[in-house]
Amino acid sequence: MDSKKTTIYDCSIIHFNKITNTAGNITPIENSKDIPFDVNRVYYLYDVPGGESRGGHAHRELQQLIIAGSGSFDILIDDGKNKRVVNLNRPYMGLYIPPGLWRELLNFSSGAICLVLASREYDESDYIRDYEGFLTFKKNTR
Ligand code: TYD
Repeated sequence: MDSKKTTIYDCSIIHFNKITNTAGNITPIENSKDIPFDVNRVYYLYDVPGGESRGGHAHRELQQLIIAGSGSFDILIDDGKNKRVVNLNRPYMGLYIPPGLWRELLNFSSGAICLVLASREYDESDYIRDYEGFLTFKKNTR
């Protein structure tokens, strides 16, 4: 996947299986079956104070699947040309984000949990944290 060429239209909402019974629900997610990559890291954001935003970066190689494990929040996706805002508010739905897209997470509800499944382990050199640098990274291919 050429992360310089990815666009907001390469993101997709994935609906997972929801196994329900009177005692509650289960949503399983399996590598390369329910999502288009193998998971090498899981992390979650929680206790986000009202009005705060997270993200504000792009990744060179990392693929991610973002789920509202509880509550809701918005994800702003930006490919340097077009932008799109996705609201996540169900634990059985996730947003797949390929590499090479700027993202910001905002409008967290009280008690929201943002669960992230990631294709790679943490690597600071995979981040593009400067927006102008991101635009240059994307422009170099077009
Ligand atoms: P960062 O990804 O910038 O957070 P966000 O995009 O949600 O604002 O990470 C914040 C800090 O946490 C940064 O110093 C790196 C560290 N961190 C890890 O050590 N491991 C991880 O898996 C993640 C996601 C972050």
